[in-house]
Amino acid sequence: MITKVIIDPKGEIHYYKKEDFHTHFGVIREKDIKNGIVKSNLDKEFLIFDANFIDNIHKIKRGPAIAHYKDIGLIITTTGIGVKSKVVDAGSGCANLASYLARIGCDVTTYEINPEFYEIAKENLENLKLKVKIKNQDIYQGISEKNLDLVNLDLLEPWKVLDHAHKSLKSGGFLTAYLPTITQVIELFKNINSRFYVWKVSEVLEREWYVEGLKVRPKNQMLSHTAFLVFLRKI
Ligand SMILES: C[S@@+](CC[C@H](N)C(=O)[O-])C[C@H]1O[C@@H](n2cnc3c(N)ncnc32)[C@H](O)[C@@H]1O
Repeated sequence: MITKVIIDPKGEIHYYKKEDFHTHFGVIREKDIKNGIVKSNLDKEFLIFDANFIDNIHKIKRGPAIAHYKDIGLIITTTGIGVKSKVVDAGSGCANLASYLARIGCDVTTYEINPEFYEIAKENLENLKLKVKIKNQDIYQGISEKNLDLVNLDLLEPWKVLDHAHKSLKSGGFLTAYLPTITQVIELFKNINSRFYVWKVSEVLEREWYVEGLKVRPKNQMLSHTAFLVFLRKI
């Protein structure tokens, strides 16, 4: 568990768990790790504050690519899910998305076909102390949960889940598909028929800025394309 965030004199972020903290700017003894400005044995200043959920989720064990934070925000705000919403998610991958859904109070079940990634997701959920049901199962074979508010799909062929999702969703419930390529969006649309209403198809581009004295401008690099987000609603 990460307990503190430590910012070094160069502005680099370090995630601290316990024991003495060593960097090339010197050492801070465990007993001196306290919130505020703390000096190392080399008289260098560090900023220290408490870690929270986001610091721990940023450091989860990685396997397959995660659904990005910027995109998760749009999924949550578009679908309106929250406390006690019933959600099925697949594939679990590293459980990044499943963790955020559980964090906002959803009742989450996540499906993962690959045993290795299932173990990674399980470990990450346990470390984050989140209550999520995780199944080492192929979602293409069916969804046993019913009365769902959301079925979220972050896998190769979401069109194979349309029938199952339709049976399991509430009327008006959302199916979201997280798709890196536009050819996947086209294939999904070929299979929708009149069972779902297309709510929207979107992309989220996040551009960070420097605000440092006179250097007030966008950063040179931005996180642009991660995935197309398809939002469908069960009719
Ligand atoms: C890109 S990752 C998902 C990442 C996850 N959303 C996250 O935020 O950590 C895709 C995952 O889907 C899994 N997967 C692919 N087909 C599946 C299926 N039919 N049923 C369940 N999981 C599947 C893969 O094994 C992989 O772990």
